Amino acid sequence: MFSTCICASSLAPTTPTTTPAAMPGDDQAAKPVADPFLRFLLPAPKPRPAEPSPPARLVPPHGLVAPPLPLPHARPDERLFIVPPTRPSWLPPPPPPGTTVKPRPVAPPNEHRARNAGRFAGNGNGGRGRVPGAFLPPNRGRAGPERRKVATDHKSKEKKAWVAVEKKGEDAGDEDPAVGSEGYSGGDEGGNEVEEDQLELEGGEQETEQEGGDHRQRLDQQGELKNSLAVAPDGNGDVDRPIENLLMPQSNQAPRLRGRMRRRQVECRHDIDTFTPGFIELYESLKPSEEHKSKQQQLVDSLAKSVSKEWPNAQMHLYGSCANSFGTAHSDVDVCLEMEIGTGSAVEILLRLAEILRTEDKFESVEAITGARVPIVRMSDPGTGFSCDICINNLFAVANTKLLKDYAQIDQRLLQLAFLVKHWAKLRGVNETYRGTLSSYAYVIMCINFLQLREPNILPCLQAMEPTYALNVDGTECAYFDEVHQLHDFSAKNKESIAKLLWAFFHYWAFHHDYRNDVISVRLGKTISKQEKNWTTRVGNDRHLMCIEDPFETSHDLGRVVDKQTIRILREEFERAAAVLQYDEDPCATLFEPYIL
Ligand code: GTP
Ligand code: MG
Repeated sequence: MFSTCICASSLAPTTPTTTPAAMPGDDQAAKPVADPFLRFLLPAPKPRPAEPSPPARLVPPHGLVAPPLPLPHARPDERLFIVPPTRPSWLPPPPPPGTTVKPRPVAPPNEHRARNAGRFAGNGNGGRGRVPGAFLPPNRGRAGPERRKVATDHKSKEKKAWVAVEKKGEDAGDEDPAVGSEGYSGGDEGGNEVEEDQLELEGGEQETEQEGGDHRQRLDQQGELKNSLAVAPDGNGDVDRPIENLLMPQSNQAPRLRGRMRRRQVECRHDIDTFTPGFIELYESLKPSEEHKSKQQQLVDSLAKSVSKEWPNAQMHLYGSCANSFGTAHSDVDVCLEMEIGTGSAVEILLRLAEILRTEDKFESVEAITGARVPIVRMSDPGTGFSCDICINNLFAVANTKLLKDYAQIDQRLLQLAFLVKHWAKLRGVNETYRGTLSSYAYVIMCINFLQLREPNILPCLQAMEPTYALNVDGTECAYFDEVHQLHDFSAKNKESIAKLLWAFFHYWAFHHDYRNDVISVRLGKTISKQEKNWTTRVGNDRHLMCIEDPFETSHDLGRVVDKQTIRILREEFERAAAVLQYDEDPCATLFEPYIL
């Protein structure tokens, strides 16, 4: 090629009458061109180069190819900017260009599979999954290809018919089933929750449904870079882990971010109300029977006799779920003794009470738990199997018991929602304060606040209304509007079914609640900022990662026990629950599948 070029230019005729260059093996080349017309087909004469010829320039136009510049020796993080983005290997190959992508049937990948098998890592049972009988490999808590594979291998789930729910073309053009289906199942949160919250705040919350795929892709890439390069110290005082431990594989994290962003905007499935009868039936079955209540009363009477012998002036209050109407057939009996303590202490009284109850031999397993925030005596009734907690002068609990009972009378959907949430929390193993998850009381408070914020409101904010009830506890006024019979029509404008509310509750806690900044407050009927409460950092054992203000003891965060590990577990469980309600063909059953440790 190169030699041909040289020949063509050097032998070209300088005048129109000269013959063309002879080419090897070309018979015609030796003959003169007779027809002047054909001369126009000859190459144009090349102008002689000016003398002397300048050195070759490396700027266009030129005929020279500059040698490739040597790649600078990049540090690993710099290489991220040089290497073009590649499609992660775990995604299916993209469709050929020009193919119209059909809306994807929403697959049931692993959204309610063991997301956190390995939860409570310190308990030695970390690898066990939540499917009864299953013993899952130790990496079941991980996202990515392995988890997806295990999920799709699970035959029993494959047979289910899943309902696709679309919103304004949400999934149209989504060529990425793995990503789309990740919405509820999320990815590995092996890093820390603050890092993730940061991602959501910086990237995720900016996206709206109207924004196209390009923008989504850009955000993903930005998110991936942030994941890799910009890990901020957590705002909760825990900065002791090395940064590399906080980083997660990009293939895990981007889909999660994408999924979270997407599902924030999702609408509830259209057939959600068909599940309401099932949920109502379950709720009815959870309500304690009359027989159960009368047995509880017998236990209380028997206890009252024992107490009055030693402390005749003590007043006995029932508190907690046996008195606030949120009690199920499995709830314990909570009793508060109101009495003058004199020179002794509440702990001394409890130790004495435990002694008395043991000698009377009416109750079993009598135990004084004195190290708790609220010291108690715990025992069980052999006849009924009921567990009973007795505390001294815990009048805040008496006040909040009445508050909850009054809220329950305004709209029956509160009781239904709270019963189902409590039942779910018990079965899913996220109702254990000693392990860093939430108390039943905290879940009821979450339900009240959720219904206060529903549009149109289902519950009012009783503490923001003119008080008709007040109890002074240690100088704190516990006051609110308790004439709730006047509020029976309060929620008349809101017709949402319990199935829809249950889905919306989990969806809120999975995707909408701002864990980084917000505190839920039943007292004010809204969310307030952590800054306002000065709950931005860990104080002692109160981590303030998931903040739930007690309605009367406002310095008390009911979520204080939630730590970095259990906030992940909780959020994963909220996501699972939302996914089950959104997609499962039998959510009334699947939602309550027990988590087996
Ligand atoms: P069950 O699980 O049905 O027994 O629900 P419950 O509402 O009785 O919950 P639990 O036995 O955990 O709590 C008893 C009561 O203690 C609550 O209803 C509140 O009145 C009061 N309480 C106040 N602060 C707290 C707290 O931080 N944690 C718990 N668990 N209870 C609190
Ligand atoms: Mg209780």
